[in-house]
Amino acid sequence: MKLATPRLSLAPLDPAADAEGLHAAYGDPEVMTWWTRPATATAAETQRLLAEENARSGAMLWTVRDEGGTVVGLVGLLGAVEIPGLTWILARHTWGRGFATEAAAAAIEYAFTHAGLDRVEAWVEASNARSLAVCQRLGLVRQGTLAQRYAHRTHPHEVAVLGLTNPQHKQEPTPVLRVEPVLPVTDVAATLSLLRAVLSGRVSFSVGEPVEVAGLVLGPWSVGPSIRLVTASGAQSAPVTLALDAATELDELHRRAVASGAGRVEPPTEQPWGVREFTFELPEGHRLVFSAPA
Ligand SMILES: CC(C)(COP(=O)(O)OP(=O)(O)OC[C@H]1O[C@@H](n2cnc3c(N)ncnc32)[C@H](O)[C@@H]1OP(=O)(O)O)[C@@H](O)C(=O)NCCC(=O)NCCS
Repeated sequence: MKLATPRLSLAPLDPAADAEGLHAAYGDPEVMTWWTRPATATAAETQRLLAEENARSGAMLWTVRDEGGTVVGLVGLLGAVEIPGLTWILARHTWGRGFATEAAAAAIEYAFTHAGLDRVEAWVEASNARSLAVCQRLGLVRQGTLAQRYAHRTHPHEVAVLGLTNPQHKQEPTPVLRVEPVLPVTDVAATLSLLRAVLSGRVSFSVGEPVEVAGLVLGPWSVGPSIRLVTASGAQSAPVTLALDAATELDELHRRAVASGAGRVEPPTEQPWGVREFTFELPEGHRLVFSAPA
């Protein structure tokens, strides 16, 4: 369905007809800085890419034109994703005029009103300030962070996941807001300082003198990934394995784990499911398995 905004017209993507115009965006390395792949070399390659995107199940993509009918970019929803994912891209010379926000708002309105979706989300590289600003203008709220590595990059990067729920849908309260593993250890204070040396983080609470129970929050905010430590009673000694996603810091974490001089630290290895990981075994036998995209 065609959509219109005060300054723009949006027509369902036609890869064959629109590739030439959209190549101004997809063929520009600056525009493609944060994309999942490098810039395309030719309009024909852009057309193949657009055809692939458009063929994914659930994809809803619109080519955006200005008042003069010139193609400025593309907005819409990606196909083949678990939760409907927003996408937007504009030719470089059209940035800074509010076109992305205006066009994406129309796409979201369509998604909520006509397609009946109950939520949309955007995955944005943490360094993509312009795209994060679009999310903010649209009212998307940051829900969490993931680590990803694109095939054409050498290093993983941090991805912010932002979400917006359909205001017309009744929202059930989130049943679980946080899961916190509890590790029984022989000396809570010593394990806290060991984990802080490796993982940084803040002590969110501690109880007892000497400390019997304590919480360690690993992110920079009051909430985030966290671990609770309790004094082990004789019966509670079975070792626990925790999997920790480490984004880009895997080698640094490994260095710190080795430097702590505690427990056993295995070297980072590449796993068949696309991550590098290493295991840090605490003195009680608990295993912390750190991983980052390979
Ligand atoms: C992300 C992207 C689409 C954002 O484009 P953008 O032009 O910065 O975003 P908007 O269209 O919302 O424009 C907002 C800007 O236009 C300005 N503006 C000018 N006239 C305006 C008007 N009439 N109405 C609204 N805003 C206007 C705003 O003040 C704002 O300026 P600022 O950037 O100086 O704060 C663009 O940078 C892009 O194509 N990036 C590469 C592709 C990409 O990374 N996509 C996202 C992957 S997650």
